[in-house]
Amino acid sequence: MSDSIIINEVGPRDGLQSQDGSLSLEQRFAFVEAILAAGVRHVEMGSFVSPKAVPQMAGTGDLARRLGRRDGVELSALVPNMKGYELASDAGVETMAVVVSSTETMNQKNINLSMDETMDVARAVIERGSAEGKRVQAYLAVAFECPFEGAVDPGYVRALAAQLLDAGASELVIADTIGAANPAQVKQLMTALAKEHESERLACHFHDTRALGLANIYAALESGVRRFDSSIGGLGGCPFAPGAKGNVATEDVVMLCEQMGCETDIEMPALLQAVDLVSEMLGRPQGGRAHYWLSRNAA
Ligand code: COA
Ligand code: ZN
Repeated sequence: MSDSIIINEVGPRDGLQSQDGSLSLEQRFAFVEAILAAGVRHVEMGSFVSPKAVPQMAGTGDLARRLGRRDGVELSALVPNMKGYELASDAGVETMAVVVSSTETMNQKNINLSMDETMDVARAVIERGSAEGKRVQAYLAVAFECPFEGAVDPGYVRALAAQLLDAGASELVIADTIGAANPAQVKQLMTALAKEHESERLACHFHDTRALGLANIYAALESGVRRFDSSIGGLGGCPFAPGAKGNVATEDVVMLCEQMGCETDIEMPALLQAVDLVSEMLGRPQGGRAHYWLSRNAA
């Protein structure tokens, strides 16, 4: 397999939103800088959500202003509604991510809206973003299994995906928010989606709750997906989805891709330095499943 892979680093958002304490703005800035220093070109820096719901993400506007624009770098932010879109836009963010959960209950728990209302909000943000020259990525969360409603029908996920892509989403990200998917399911869903849409517009977001993160990445690669979310050190989780553990670790995904002959253009030693930095900031050692091996073989 040879190809270039896009890694979208979500540690500064998915990773930090689920930590017990909050990092300071200074620390969040230094974390993003360390990620960029490793050659990562796509970073979800934070979210524009209610600071009451997710205090760890308060101040993302200041962070976005401080980071500014970088050549060849896509700094994105999650927005749950039009208010979030406007705040992000005011802070100069050019790529936003909207999230639709694949079940009624998960939308209620996450953003206090029904499925229909969530789809209306997502379409409105995508359409406004397109009209205003922004890129809007659409996430389908709990796309395989929901912590409240159980297994999700892949046909339903495909129907939602089509609506979001037709509305003009720059990418459609299939998210296994609680880490419940297996590689056979991933291959089936992503192969079907890759037949129905351009594969460059598809991405996957896996959590490593059951140690299936890399196996699921491999299954998606085999289906033609070349864009993945991952989180440095395997940080992550979702405060609204019980059982969600960390994202698949960026260093593990980079290792997998590079060993199979795919290119990420990410430098492993610098990536490991970013893992060390965030471990120090959080006061707890972080690291993916290959951390021990990588820290001895990739320095
Ligand atoms: N950013 C910041 N504040 C926001 C906001 C946004 N995008 N959207 C709404 N608010 C504020 C409102 O101004 C209001 O503030 P006030 O209490 O000071 O008047 C308050 O939040 C409640 O607004 P309301 O529209 O009634 O929303 P809600 O209480 O139904 O909450 C969300 C909806 C989306 C704001 C909230 O559920 C949320 O932020 N969820 C975060 C979900 C998340 O991050 N999940 C993990 C990633 S998928
Ligand atoms: Zn996630």
